[in-house]
Amino acid sequence: MRFRKLGRTGVLVSELCLGTMTFGWQVDEAASHQLLDGFVTAGGNFLDTSNVYSSGKSEEIIGTWLAGHDRARIVLATKARFRTAEGANSLGLSRKHLLHAVPESLRRLQTDYIDLLQVHAWDPLTPLEETFGTLHRLTEDGLIRYVGVSNYRAWQFEQALQLCRARGWHEPVSLQPQYSLYSRATEFELIPMCVAENIAVLPWSPLAGGFLSGKYTDGVRSPPAGSRIGESKDAEFYTRRFDNERAARIVRAVREVASEAGKTPSQVALNWLLSRPAVTAPILGVRTMGQLAENLGATGWSLSEAQVLRLSHESDLEVTYPYDQRAEDQQTSDRRGE
Ligand SMILES: NC(=O)c1ccc[n+]([C@@H]2O[C@H](COP(=O)([O-])OP(=O)(O)OC[C@H]3O[C@@H](n4cnc5c(N)ncnc54)[C@H](OP(=O)(O)O)[C@@H]3O)[C@@H](O)[C@H]2O)c1
Repeated sequence: MRFRKLGRTGVLVSELCLGTMTFGWQVDEAASHQLLDGFVTAGGNFLDTSNVYSSGKSEEIIGTWLAGHDRARIVLATKARFRTAEGANSLGLSRKHLLHAVPESLRRLQTDYIDLLQVHAWDPLTPLEETFGTLHRLTEDGLIRYVGVSNYRAWQFEQALQLCRARGWHEPVSLQPQYSLYSRATEFELIPMCVAENIAVLPWSPLAGGFLSGKYTDGVRSPPAGSRIGESKDAEFYTRRFDNERAARIVRAVREVASEAGKTPSQVALNWLLSRPAVTAPILGVRTMGQLAENLGATGWSLSEAQVLRLSHESDLEVTYPYDQRAEDQQTSDRRGE
């Protein structure tokens, strides 16, 4: 397993992070512990959870596992923002909720610090000063090591960054966006911002919920049993999302590149992400040890330049102003003296 710097920090994380959203949901405690053991045995040190996955059960399962392991070797990321209980203030990024949520996560995780506390999403009600001032204080108090952000837009992230700089507060060091061969709108504003600011990018749903594994052979109309889409009650959502020409074209290209490279479609889709600017560690989602072993095989090799280009080309989104080449040329041509 290779390691990458977590953005501008001095911390090294494995270039694959183990996501734990399936823990306590599709995977029971004993099987989750096996997945954690398998991941660290393969050299992984980076775990991602949230205080709302399986209503806190995911954090609890990590906690019972961590109790028997060397805490210092693990880089542990969790999140706060979404509803944790009944009541008007049991959600959001207010000082009141954060100062309740973080100690609760620490209790479930059976640890006295969180390496990366990520705000799970934007909170339109709470001033940024209140949120990031509280996160600064939690860092100074030693309860968290670094601050991260998930699901922000670029202007929201940049506002938070500039605020922290102006106040001398600990700045957010990472962004966790949805990002995959299927979800590429992330590249319009977020990725260039992360490159410019040296922010670590931690893509969630790197296989588009399993779609890019290639196991949905007939689009999503007759999904295999025991799969996320097969078990979902919201077939309409997945049909809207994946029953289209672009999705079919991407999976076809992933399959063909996989067979050319002697890898599996999942490994190819993950390796493509690892080749993208600013990406630090895609967050793996797995249900079985077989999926974990397969997905860990996404590192230690690289797609050829031609294969990366082909996958990027087949998954291109329509790019219009102000992101198209013409707008870019207009911005820069006079600076090149043309
Ligand atoms: N910040 C956020 O808002 C946010 C949102 C979502 C997720 N996340 C984080 O990102 C992590 C990953 O998200 P995700 O679970 O959506 O990731 P994903 O990689 O897009 O999907 C994972 C799912 O795909 C299937 N799969 C994985 N490997 C496979 C393989 N080799 N062959 C066939 N099927 C395979 C499994 O589902 P089935 O076997 O059930 O089909 C697995 O649960 C989560 O655990 C969480 O930590 C964050």
